[in-house]
Amino acid sequence: MNPSLLLTALCVGIASAAPKLDLRADAQWNQWKATHGKRYNENEEGWRRAVWEKNMKMIELHNREHGQGRHNFTMAMNAFGDMTSEEFRQVRNGFQNQKHKKGEMFQEPALAEVPRSVDWRENGWVTPVKDQGQCGSCWAFSATGSLEGQMFRKTGKLVSLSEQNLVDCSRAQGNEGCDGGLMDNAFQYVKDNQGLDTEESYPYCGTDDTCKYKPEFSAANDTGFMDIRKNERSLMKAVASVGPISVAIDASLASFQFYEKGIYYDPDCSSEELDHGVLVVGYGFEGGESDNNKYWIVKNSWGTKWGTDGYIKMAKDQDNHCGIASMASYPTV
Ligand SMILES: *[C@@H]1O[C@H](CO)[C@@H](O)[C@H](O)[C@H]1NC(C)=O
Ligand SMILES: *[C@@H]1O[C@H](CO)[C@@H](O)[C@H](O)[C@H]1NC(C)=O
Repeated sequence: MNPSLLLTALCVGIASAAPKLDLRADAQWNQWKATHGKRYNENEEGWRRAVWEKNMKMIELHNREHGQGRHNFTMAMNAFGDMTSEEFRQVRNGFQNQKHKKGEMFQEPALAEVPRSVDWRENGWVTPVKDQGQCGSCWAFSATGSLEGQMFRKTGKLVSLSEQNLVDCSRAQGNEGCDGGLMDNAFQYVKDNQGLDTEESYPYCGTDDTCKYKPEFSAANDTGFMDIRKNERSLMKAVASVGPISVAIDASLASFQFYEKGIYYDPDCSSEELDHGVLVVGYGFEGGESDNNKYWIVKNSWGTKWGTDGYIKMAKDQDNHCGIASMASYPTV
């Protein structure tokens, strides 16, 4: 063995065991702030850093446990590192599980065989991952996602659609802009309005604003929406036969906030307390046939730096984990 290598290894060992632990954390904290362009005033920095350190420790512990086979997925520090989960829920989610006008019921096709895996991204049905920013507009991103897919199915053209149009203009349908909304209300708006503008003509700003819809820039229409029966078998048939489907999930846990890769499964995830709208773009399985390796492919709206390039694999056929089949729907075009 190379003696100088041994020495280095020992030195590092000694250095990290010494009381001056904070050096590593200082550097990491500064690095993290630089990466994410964070600036705080003097009053804020101390407690933000404490939150960040707590999150960092939680992530490291989770990943050590993952190494011992105790979790199916890993976590990673990301742009949300200085937010408590309460704070995160408030500004990031925004799906309102309120009473609303019901759609027609999706009639399951008599598929002789449902494919074992589907990924609509491979066939050009899905636009790149977007970022909702500090606005509870997940519902708008989920809605444009399934409408983009259905318009592609109809016209063969993939056109990115405007979430800001939905945020600013669908209050009459029951949505509340950055304070939350429902995908079905968004589909209803597109029907009532007879159009939805393109992303390009009506770009996202992530704050509540006045409605600036211009019919000449509309690139989509719908005639209403279909709700899918509350079970994963129906959701699977819908994804296989229709395309990307809007769903609501429980995304309130810290494990979701810092998800990195693998199949997301957290025993604390609720099937009823839905707070986030996302898009199922397919499903599949890892490795060989077994009951514990199936997943839904889910497109999120937190940018590409979150999760696996903006996506998450969520446990499938595990008793409606996180409520993924509890409120699924799509627009009819
Ligand atoms: C892994 O995920 C499966 C469901 O896909 C679940 O049944 C199992 O308990 C999970 N394992 C751990 C260690 O969380
Ligand atoms: C949507 O439907 C309305 C009313 O039928 C029509 O005037 C409009 O051109 C349609 N827009 C698109 C983008 O298809």
